Amino acid sequence: MDRIRIIIVEDEIVIATDIKAHLVSRGFEVLSIATNSEEAMRDVETLKPDVVLLDILLRGGVDGTVVAQKINSRFGIPVVYLTAHTDKATLAKAEMTDFYGYLVKPVNENILYVTLKMAYHKHQLETRIRENEQRLKNILDSLRDLIYVIDSRYRILWINHNVIAAFGDVTGIRCHEVFEKRGDVCPDCPVNTTFRDGQAHYIEKSLRLGSEDRLFVHTSHPFESGEGEKKQALLILSDITRERREMEELNRSREELRNLSAYLESVRERERTAIAREIHDYMGQSLTALKIDLSWVYKNLAGDVAALGNKLSGMMDLVDEAIQNTRNLCSELRPGILDDLGLSAALEWQTAEYEKMTGIQCSFESRPPDLVVNPDISTAAFRIFKEAMRNIIHHSGADGVEIRLDLGNGELRLAVEDNGRGISPEEAGSGRSFGIIGMRERAHHCGGELEVEGRAEGGTRVLLKIPVRE
Ligand SMILES: Nc1ncnc2c1ncn2[C@@H]1O[C@H](COP(=O)(O)OP(=O)(O)OP(=O)(O)O)[C@@H](O)[C@H]1O
Ligand SMILES: [Mg+2]
Repeated sequence: MDRIRIIIVEDEIVIATDIKAHLVSRGFEVLSIATNSEEAMRDVETLKPDVVLLDILLRGGVDGTVVAQKINSRFGIPVVYLTAHTDKATLAKAEMTDFYGYLVKPVNENILYVTLKMAYHKHQLETRIRENEQRLKNILDSLRDLIYVIDSRYRILWINHNVIAAFGDVTGIRCHEVFEKRGDVCPDCPVNTTFRDGQAHYIEKSLRLGSEDRLFVHTSHPFESGEGEKKQALLILSDITRERREMEELNRSREELRNLSAYLESVRERERTAIAREIHDYMGQSLTALKIDLSWVYKNLAGDVAALGNKLSGMMDLVDEAIQNTRNLCSELRPGILDDLGLSAALEWQTAEYEKMTGIQCSFESRPPDLVVNPDISTAAFRIFKEAMRNIIHHSGADGVEIRLDLGNGELRLAVEDNGRGISPEEAGSGRSFGIIGMRERAHHCGGELEVEGRAEGGTRVLLKIPVRE
């Protein structure tokens, strides 16, 4: 340990020298001996000792307590008094100042040693406590929150800087008088609940700050100050006005996007239906009429016109193909079966088509077999089903798919389960999986939800749930 550095302020040079010899022999370092107050102040300023040993009555009637005050307030260095007087008046005067010990001349060597050691360590300890307190205060002041300590009678005992900035110095005032300008405890007071059950509690509540209402989360924690007071609470007010506004803004723009995408979807659906009808009505009918004419010509050909007959037969095949393609195109755009026979029939038919097209074994079950839901929901379910099947065909490597449609307990459920490689959570939750995002959006727009996940037994399950009024 470093040696404790001392300045002796004593006008009796013999006494001072004697004390110095004692101190040095006990391991102290004596930086100087000052014989008057000016020398004392100069030496303290330049040498910065750990402790000053100061004669309480210096030559010329100088009051040592005044010098001690100056040393304390300017340099924060502890002073131990040295005096020949033990009268009450001198003691009382000394007690008015911050001092760390009181030694009576002639000084006992051991008492001198112990007193100076104690003075040094007490001062070190106090400095450390002060530094910690300051650090804690700086931390609490640098937080955005308003922080209070409240006693069992709801009086504010301690506040951080933000509270002063917002409400002024409100220590000693009851919290309900400060926050709500009321005489009794607020009915929803979280501190009250904390006092009752000893747990942390929070509420959200607006407070008027200046001319503005701000939204705060008020959190109260049981608190022990260690000062004998049993019930205290730490109340932390966090301003969430900005976060709440941003969240509302985000939700609003999400809602707008959802509405926009639903609107675009319904427009697209209407267009598709219209195009399908047009193709069906005009193209289909014209081609059919053409085929009838061609067949009439074929039947009414006279003489040996086999070559022409062959040609015409080929043309009729082409027309057949065109009619079939037109039908396929129409049902791809908007399957008439969905509008004519409903969701169960449309899914069953579409499942059979996929099976034919891909060779993947598909089973379809509907309970009830011919369930009816409103056109928006059946369109959404049908499109989601097609997207799920497209993913199975392109990504799963499955050779079997089970499709189940259920209506019951106020909910339509459509489950599409394949036995392929299984989708990973990352693929299912990626912000770039636009096919899946589109499916979810459709489900949300009908007030429903969509789960896409790998199954424990392998493969992927797409589950659509939409609440319906039966
Ligand atoms: N049934 C499935 N089995 C295995 N993986 C799947 C399945 N469905 C989807 N995935 C994986 O999830 C990813 C995201 O699917 P999503 O439908 O969102 O996009 P995409 O099919 O790749 O592209 P898009 O649908 O836009 O044409 C796919 O690329 C694929 O890796
Ligand atoms: Mg896809």
